[in-house]
Amino acid sequence: MRVVVSIGGSVLAPDLDPDRVAAYAEAVEHVTAGGCEAGVVVGGGGVAREYIETARDLGANEVELDQLGIGTTRLNARLLIAALDGRSNLSPATGYDEAAAALRRGEVSVMGGVTPGQTTDAVAAAFAESVDADLLVYATSADGVYDADPNVDPDATQFESMSPAELVDVVLPMSRDAGASAPVDLLAAKLIDRAGIRSIVLDGTDPAAVVDAVLRGEHTGTDVIPTGSDEPAHWADARGE
Ligand code: UTP
Repeated sequence: MRVVVSIGGSVLAPDLDPDRVAAYAEAVEHVTAGGCEAGVVVGGGGVAREYIETARDLGANEVELDQLGIGTTRLNARLLIAALDGRSNLSPATGYDEAAAALRRGEVSVMGGVTPGQTTDAVAAAFAESVDADLLVYATSADGVYDADPNVDPDATQFESMSPAELVDVVLPMSRDAGASAPVDLLAAKLIDRAGIRSIVLDGTDPAAVVDAVLRGEHTGTDVIPTGSDEPAHWADARGE
């Protein structure tokens, strides 16, 4: 089974905590030891926001800000690469072919952002599509997809499962509303819908949660299930069914 895991920067390295990065490297190793090829896309987190704020005050334009953001995603990706200790590509892939080539070599394929105008949510979806991944997992600071922003609306309800088209419908108004934080960005949702990628959005605070989700399909987040698709065969095998 081939999986792409998107790890938000603030989930991978809150306050640049080395223990969390090491725990994520261990989680990735469990996933590969469990029989998966793994691609990992790392986000920028708080470090990206700080750089972007400073550069915005200096008058940088949006593309320049995005380039700074991409730089920080690659810095974070290098932290994970360091913790993986030789089991991944040497440096973050800067494009999808390069990322796919690392998978072919049998390495964990780590990358950050690629191009201005998007976030690593979209990178993860495009990477998953480009390598025909069986599963895409978003390890985020939200514990799934809600019908409204749970930080703002106390009545927001979490979806246990939804179709990719429903994900697009949920994310669309959030992406128009400045300040509301969508669990994945609109471009990512559209790519998931277009390609029919089986996905999971879950709370990535505990890296072990990603292992359970990838290897057995067990999690408390939201399943995004393309219409008519079967669950990965790997899950039934892992559960001994
Ligand atoms: P993130 O993917 O971490 O953005 O990339 P985010 O969703 O804003 O972060 P979280 O999930 O809330 O922590 C950081 C920044 O890098 C730039 C964007 O400016 C983005 O906000 N970026 C990233 C790109 O321009 N292109 C990419 O492909 C990736």
